[in-house]
Amino acid sequence: MSGSVSRRDFARLFALGGSAALFADPVWAREYSQANGSSPAIGGTGEAFWKSVRAQFVMPPDLGVLNAANLCPASRPVLEALKRESDSVDRDPSAQNRARLSGEKENTRKALAAFLRVTPEEIVITRNTSEANNMVSSGIDLKPGDEVVVFHDNHPSNLVAWQEKAKRWGFTVVEIAQKNPHPGMEYYVDAYTKAITSKTKIVTMTHLTSSVGDLFPAKDICRVARERGVLSHLDGAQSFGLLDVNLSDIQPDFYSGSAHKWPCGARECGVLYINARAQKQIWPSIYSAYPGAVGISKSFESFGQRDEATMIALREALQFQTKVGRAAIEQRSRSLAQQLIAGLSKLPDVKVWTSPNPSLNGAVVSFLPGSLNPPRLGQALYEKDKLGLAGRGLGDRGGLRASPHFYNTPEEIDRLVSAVGRYLKTGV
Ligand SMILES: Cc1ncc(COP(=O)(O)O)c(C=O)c1O
Repeated sequence: MSGSVSRRDFARLFALGGSAALFADPVWAREYSQANGSSPAIGGTGEAFWKSVRAQFVMPPDLGVLNAANLCPASRPVLEALKRESDSVDRDPSAQNRARLSGEKENTRKALAAFLRVTPEEIVITRNTSEANNMVSSGIDLKPGDEVVVFHDNHPSNLVAWQEKAKRWGFTVVEIAQKNPHPGMEYYVDAYTKAITSKTKIVTMTHLTSSVGDLFPAKDICRVARERGVLSHLDGAQSFGLLDVNLSDIQPDFYSGSAHKWPCGARECGVLYINARAQKQIWPSIYSAYPGAVGISKSFESFGQRDEATMIALREALQFQTKVGRAAIEQRSRSLAQQLIAGLSKLPDVKVWTSPNPSLNGAVVSFLPGSLNPPRLGQALYEKDKLGLAGRGLGDRGGLRASPHFYNTPEEIDRLVSAVGRYLKTGV
């Protein structure tokens, strides 16, 4: 869980896409060489490396936005791709140029498939996780008597969506209650196993919850569902681009994610993975023109005209993360989260809702800051300490949420902990 990157990671960084591609960016190169002198040997310089990664984002160095669970900044390579491809359409909106862009979109599909370790034939490029989740809840044939098992702490796009559609189509929604603190992986595997009956058609869960960052035993629950002949859906909004996700290993039937969260892609782009074995069990929700070229995208991606630039920019984002190192990104974000949990836990009266156990959490940390008013504290942290957090309503495990990613720094975490400590003494 250290924040440094090994010599092997650096070697891989250069091997993958090469130094030329990554360090071609003058800002990156300048920051990097400032941090390392002119030496080409880059192993063993953990913080210097992450500083050079941070320089690939246009956020000012003194602004510490710890809100990856909500929205991430796009990196410079992503912004460049977005501008380049967007300008290209305006310069040349011909059918020929649009056909080129459609071809580029297919390269994004391939990149998404490689990133998630599945096949391009199983990938639908959506607008976001909400759309992907709703394509699942609207696309499965469900009728009165059928049951759907959901986690109560799912995002509305994967909870309210099922509840509302149940009113229309007459199926029953069975909810697994959330427990705090995280009761352990076995608890949730057991709860899902017991909730599945002969009437269950699909189970759905959140890989990492957006509320308090509880990690779910996705692989085990998907296995139980598979063994019982039940479909499984995994909402990956908080795992895609943070965890080194391997869908061939987890084997859900459906997985959804957003480019504008942890992958740091362009806004309004997302993914729906539909496992080859489940493709005959789901209907498209939208019928129009401009489908994808392969597999399930031929029938599921006819969304009409789209902005290909955002999809091409997503490919750039995936390449950027691959070059930095996906395992290193996961390790970095998680280590910042652990640093935060440890720091907050030492402050008097602060209640950290997130499990301190790294096998049960990710990089989403929620806490109640004693008797301080959370919205006022959030505002003070932003205005006076240049730290951006998300607010959480006081009803359920409320307070503030910080979700650090690989562009954040240990200094920002220290700044947050000491600022909260200060406000606990002075008030806000
Ligand atoms: C678990 C989860 N699912 C779905 C979503 C919806 O994501 P989007 O707004 O990108 O559609 C979110 C957003 O925070 C989320 O945390």
